[in-house]
Amino acid sequence: MKNLAVAGTGYVGLVTGVCMAENGHNVTCVDIDEQKVKTMREGISPIYEVGLEELMRKNIDAGRLHFTTDYHAAYKNADAVFIGVGTPEKEDGSANLQYVETVAKQIADSIENDCLVVVKSTVPIGTNDNLEELIGDSLVHNVRVEVASNPEFLAQGSAVRDTLEAARIVIGTESAWAENLLTEIYTPFNLPIVSVNRRSAEMIKYASNDFLALKISYMNDIANLCELVGADIQDVAKGMSYDERIGSKFLNAGIGYGGSCFPKDTSALEFLARQYGYDLRTMQATISINNEQKLKLYEKAKQRLASFDGLKVAVLGLTFKPGTDDLREAPSLANVPLLLEQGADIYAYDPIGVENFKQFYAEGRYGQGNITYVDSPENALEGAAVCLIFTEWGEIRAVMPSQYKELMESPLVFDGRNIYDLQEMADKGVEYHSIGRPSVKN
Ligand code: UDX
Repeated sequence: MKNLAVAGTGYVGLVTGVCMAENGHNVTCVDIDEQKVKTMREGISPIYEVGLEELMRKNIDAGRLHFTTDYHAAYKNADAVFIGVGTPEKEDGSANLQYVETVAKQIADSIENDCLVVVKSTVPIGTNDNLEELIGDSLVHNVRVEVASNPEFLAQGSAVRDTLEAARIVIGTESAWAENLLTEIYTPFNLPIVSVNRRSAEMIKYASNDFLALKISYMNDIANLCELVGADIQDVAKGMSYDERIGSKFLNAGIGYGGSCFPKDTSALEFLARQYGYDLRTMQATISINNEQKLKLYEKAKQRLASFDGLKVAVLGLTFKPGTDDLREAPSLANVPLLLEQGADIYAYDPIGVENFKQFYAEGRYGQGNITYVDSPENALEGAAVCLIFTEWGEIRAVMPSQYKELMESPLVFDGRNIYDLQEMADKGVEYHSIGRPSVKN
């Protein structure tokens, strides 16, 4: 059992803290927000993640999981401090390291014993070298401190499972001391550990995320071509998936990837490459395909309808993917303003994303347009002239093809996530447009 501190209580920090406690360590999670700390102490999670609150309560009750705003007390005697604060994208595509650096300085200010600083946040290659120097230069006590890279591969919506049952733990260290300590911390997880140097660990994170983003953009690129040549991307993906070298995951074409990782990590690696004088063409293409893909559905609908002015538009799904209330880089945020600008009367449904979406678009009028939120897909579809699907929530998949015909004024559906069978939509008399597949006209 080790004494661990975790800086940041977002997806990465909080899940790391909880899963470390679940594996027997004594963990103190630090956040600057008093109110947030108070609610977390009661076992209430600030983020929506399956199974997280249960584990929080269990470990709080067992006395292994603590929350505080007092970073000094938390870091002072920690064997290791995990950094899980955000590295958001800056205007120019580079990663903003301000939060990581603030924590690094606080650590230097606080530690009174030898300590390993473990960076879980995604940071550009070479950052951890600089952080080690920064901490070393600002140390108050004469102690040994090293920085290790330990990238996080969790996906939102399955964060706890992804951490407790990770495919691999990547650790990047520069000394046997750091490697041994981090290995010891992860031993109770009983998972494969890949131990490399610090820069390789940093690169593994970007290369993994960006490869998945590339895979998605590749499928979207092929989907666009499928539309032109009369092929069906879902059949194409199925045929590809049997080849184990390709695999069956992340082959779904749609309206692009969103979320807190892929968009920023593709930009960050592209930016980093440019800094080194290298054109990372695969990422340039990945990013530009994704930007265009986000508006594909709107463009298709616009071409079909000519105008949205005064039309009742059902919008199904707002979050960037199912299983999360996160709206970061969600395609809905790129499409809804265009629909409103065009005078659409939007009725939007999302099982959990509405409250967050209201922070961008409160219910009401926007120029000629209007947005109203409803609590079921059926209520959004009632009397609608057109339906746009942005997220493949189970609640939305559960809408039967026949319901579009029954509920809508005219059964015209644009599906950005390819959730319906073409034949079934045709049989029920729905005009159905999706991505990379032939359109169904009635
Ligand atoms: C991702 C990585 O999966 C995770 O390993 C990393 O640590 C953080 O980034 P996340 O952003 O939570 O996790 O979601 P993920 O499920 O990977 O989906 C990302 C985006 O890709 C979503 O917008 C999703 O809709 C899109 N996607 C995914 C596709 O368009 N097609 C696919 O086949 C798969």
